[in-house]
Amino acid sequence: MVEILRANQQNLKEAGKAIRRGELVAFPTETVYGLGADATNDAAVKSIYAAKGRPSNNPLIVHITSMDQALEYGEFDDRAKQLAAQFWPGPMSLIVKRSINCPLSTIVSAGGPSVALRMPAHPISRQLLEAANVPVAAPSANASGGISPTLAEHVKQSLGDDIYMIIDGGACLVGVESSVISVVPNEAVKILRPGSINIIAVEQLLGTSVEHVQSSKSADEKLISPGMLTSHYAPKVSLKTNISTPDKNQAYLAFGQNNFKNYSLNLSPSANLDEAAQNLFAMLHALDDYCIENGCTIAVAPIPNLNIGVAINDRLSRAAAPK
Ligand code: TXA
Ligand code: MG
Repeated sequence: MVEILRANQQNLKEAGKAIRRGELVAFPTETVYGLGADATNDAAVKSIYAAKGRPSNNPLIVHITSMDQALEYGEFDDRAKQLAAQFWPGPMSLIVKRSINCPLSTIVSAGGPSVALRMPAHPISRQLLEAANVPVAAPSANASGGISPTLAEHVKQSLGDDIYMIIDGGACLVGVESSVISVVPNEAVKILRPGSINIIAVEQLLGTSVEHVQSSKSADEKLISPGMLTSHYAPKVSLKTNISTPDKNQAYLAFGQNNFKNYSLNLSPSANLDEAAQNLFAMLHALDDYCIENGCTIAVAPIPNLNIGVAINDRLSRAAAPK
């Protein structure tokens, strides 16, 4: 079983070297923990898919530290440049067309014409990326379809046998994955996955309306973003959303005031959506463990569908979807 290592200089240097050798290293970002590998190394990128049990048609996000790298790997039109200038570094991934002669493994794009790029803000992500000195492909560090990790311990539980190193950075501050925004030439800007970056802020910045693609399939039934398969983020026990009154066989994930006698955790007693996002995955992990032991299922309180609540509801509806 892999060790969890403190994010000190020596360990980060080792982690950087390990990535350059083609190993898998899990590390914190401000959203969730990522499972990183050298994005220019086909074999290393393939090992991400193997460790996660991820379908090979689901492309990966490549993590970078500079705009120079972004422009080397992808084609940025004015809209993409504006978004990058406003929201990077931060919890946003941009889907852009791969550049001609893009040095990234084609496997990060699942063989397609586009690539997802993200410049994270978390100081430990940035130090790791600098130590690696290569672009780092990193999906969330959980087995495919499972609950995303916001603590190093979650990574160890889910993937501990299959990875080389876990760098510990404590709990992730945003708590839900990056907003995924597609900015492909001659196409409207689309939000493929909601995150903490508000769609209204994106529309105001670009001066156009932006479509939120809710389903995994476009009108012609082609997968737009294969990671948006309906069942995802799923606990092992069943989960129901939008429950105002849990029944006695349900452990409750509350939001705001909670007067029920059920075993419960509260996303935010003060009904603060940012706090709820921070707590979401850790509480789902804990309730899943509790319910497996006690033979119950999970009920989740209604969450207001605004700001980061849109991202929370997106994850919860996928967690509730039939597998
Ligand atoms: O916050 C995050 O984004 C985290 C941290 C580690 O950066 N990463 C993450 O990766 O959530 P992952 O693989 O769990 O989710 C990436 C999403 C998937 O839905 C995938 O299908 C989509 O981004 N995606 C990646 N590349 C794409 C592409 N070229 N076109 C369309 N969708 C893409
Ligand atoms: Mg994921």
